[in-house]
Amino acid sequence: MSCVNIETLASGEIDCGELKVKLLQNKDTPAIMNINIGTTVRGAIDDLDLVIQTLEECGFSHNRFYIHCDAALFGLMLPFLDKATQVTFKKPIGSVSVSGHKFLGCPMPCGVQIVRKKHINALSRNIEYIASKDATITGSRNGHTPIFLWYALNRKGYHGLQKDVQMCMRNADYLKGRLKEFGVSVMLNKLSNTVVFERPQDEEFIRRWQLACEGNIAHVIVMPHVTIEKLDTFLNELVEKRLTWFKDGGNQPPCVASELGKENCACPLH
Ligand SMILES: Cc1ncc(COP(=O)(O)O)c(C=O)c1O
Repeated sequence: MSCVNIETLASGEIDCGELKVKLLQNKDTPAIMNINIGTTVRGAIDDLDLVIQTLEECGFSHNRFYIHCDAALFGLMLPFLDKATQVTFKKPIGSVSVSGHKFLGCPMPCGVQIVRKKHINALSRNIEYIASKDATITGSRNGHTPIFLWYALNRKGYHGLQKDVQMCMRNADYLKGRLKEFGVSVMLNKLSNTVVFERPQDEEFIRRWQLACEGNIAHVIVMPHVTIEKLDTFLNELVEKRLTWFKDGGNQPPCVASELGKENCACPLH
């Protein structure tokens, strides 16, 4: 299959204007789409409803497109956010996946992929020697991880997860607000706990805080274990370090307008 990349907006969301152009250029072939419910770097959530509307407007009937929703991190957060687009099989999606070792914090990599039955049936094989039907992608799987998933879900429960989500959103907003106050370029997408900001100038600092960096930007994903106290320690250290990095106006904070948008850039120009 040939693959077509679709540009994203500054937020990291899929650009549905560009999607429309590419769909119309490829009208004769069905479309398989990966929708991000929380991108890795910016925590952007694609507008599922707008994607479906765009497909329909471009003449793609429901049997000519397949949408997979990659909800690795945000799949367990979205149901608790009032204004979020909901990912549901009432909409014409084919599958959704969520990781167990991210928001739930299972101690080993695991996840759940929920797929419409008709697609599972197309994939599954009868395995004669174990007298069972196999619907896994690799042909085998770890039987231990579902127990960890079950345990984490039961221990936290619906209200426990809801509380965690609310706390993460509050703390992410706090981190964004404080960074802004200190004159650091920062972006926080709506409905996201991924705070993206100007890359610290010191590799030692990046290593110490294990910051995930990409080009001129770094991000912190505010998970349930990230407390206000921890954020304050981080902020105090960052502010102190910045005074040395940008001493006497010699070095200037980098321009991150193309990565975070002009409105979020606090470089001398913006
Ligand atoms: C958007 C997104 N999808 C998928 C993955 C990978 O998920 P997993 O670790 O469950 O394979 C990640 C991060 O690791 C991610 O950020």
